[in-house]
Amino acid sequence: MVMPVTPDLRDLFGIEHPIIQAPMAGSTTPELVAAVSNAGGLGSIGMWMMTPEQIREAIGKIRALTDRPFNVNLFAGGWESRDVDPGTTLDILRRVHKELGLSEPAVPAPFEVPFQAQIDAIIEARPPMFSFTFGMPDGATMKRLKEAGITTSGTATTVTEAKLLVDAGVDAVVAQGSEAGGHRGTFAGSIDDAMIGTMALVPQVVDEVSVPVIAAGGIMDGRGIVAAMALGARASQMGTAFLICDEASVPAVHRKVLRQSPGENVTITRAFSGRNARGIVNEFIDAWHGQEDRTLPFPLQNVATRDMRAAAATRDDPRYLALWAGQGAALAREPMPASRLMQELVQEIEVARASVTGR
Ligand SMILES: Cc1cc2nc3c(=O)[nH]c(=O)nc-3n(C[C@H](O)[C@H](O)[C@H](O)COP(=O)(O)O)c2cc1C
Repeated sequence: MVMPVTPDLRDLFGIEHPIIQAPMAGSTTPELVAAVSNAGGLGSIGMWMMTPEQIREAIGKIRALTDRPFNVNLFAGGWESRDVDPGTTLDILRRVHKELGLSEPAVPAPFEVPFQAQIDAIIEARPPMFSFTFGMPDGATMKRLKEAGITTSGTATTVTEAKLLVDAGVDAVVAQGSEAGGHRGTFAGSIDDAMIGTMALVPQVVDEVSVPVIAAGGIMDGRGIVAAMALGARASQMGTAFLICDEASVPAVHRKVLRQSPGENVTITRAFSGRNARGIVNEFIDAWHGQEDRTLPFPLQNVATRDMRAAAATRDDPRYLALWAGQGAALAREPMPASRLMQELVQEIEVARASVTGR
């Protein structure tokens, strides 16, 4: 088989190493993004929970800390307004709120989809790169991004989604395997059909699309990066591996349980946000066993569980936190600055390459 010729991602994004620190809303900070970009990778910031003002401020902060390329990220879809009885959510939360000394949980108010105002702020700020998940922006928005000179990438969990993204005009596709930590990006087809591992998904996407492919899901070290490149990926997007960085905004207990994870306790759940996401099993996930179909739709379940998650983070209580992590969690390292993690990864790439080629 002849590999399709695609522009090198390093030329496209202007990065030195094939390492993309994944956007992780709530956990990625301007400091983390800048540290990764300054070390020759691509730092990314998850912005779906930010107001336009916060978006402008965060991009300004990143620019003050680095003159290298960086990536900003939004949820381009996934907001659901179907009617669901909030009874189960309220019953479960009532028990937890009582235990944590919080007031009665309330049914979250209807929401306004924030995407348009967020993307307007991003286009105005013109970051070098914009990535998205949970669907794709409409044609007019893709055109505006292109006209603003912003490089784009979208998340695919199947070959079908990758093709849809390419038809929409993305410059690169993130192939997100089922090992990945955090939310599944699936937007076309059923979540069960889209649970395809990185090893199987990446080469199929590479064979079918004409743009560079970025591998995501379960990649924790240089071995994984080299393996992804052997499958045809131009770079690896790593989330869980970067959660331990000093610059990440992650409760101490979350970092700790990552490293203590036995590896087989990482599951897909809708308990925290209403959308399928991968994290370490805890009491809140267990409380939903057998009744996940009764969560509120995204993002209402996320709003409903916010006070509980905030209280648990303050108390370093792992039982009620969303401990997002990929299936590689047990390979997480001791806490360290992002610059050191980048150094270690670059060294490991060299070692893994040598062991593959025997040179
Ligand atoms: C804590 C956490 C939060 C995440 N938030 C986002 C996000 O805001 N936007 C996004 O596109 N992907 C998000 N992801 C998914 C990552 O982009 C990526 O697909 C995933 O981390 C790769 O798998 P890994 O965690 O095994 O490296 C998140 C992942 C984690 C672990």
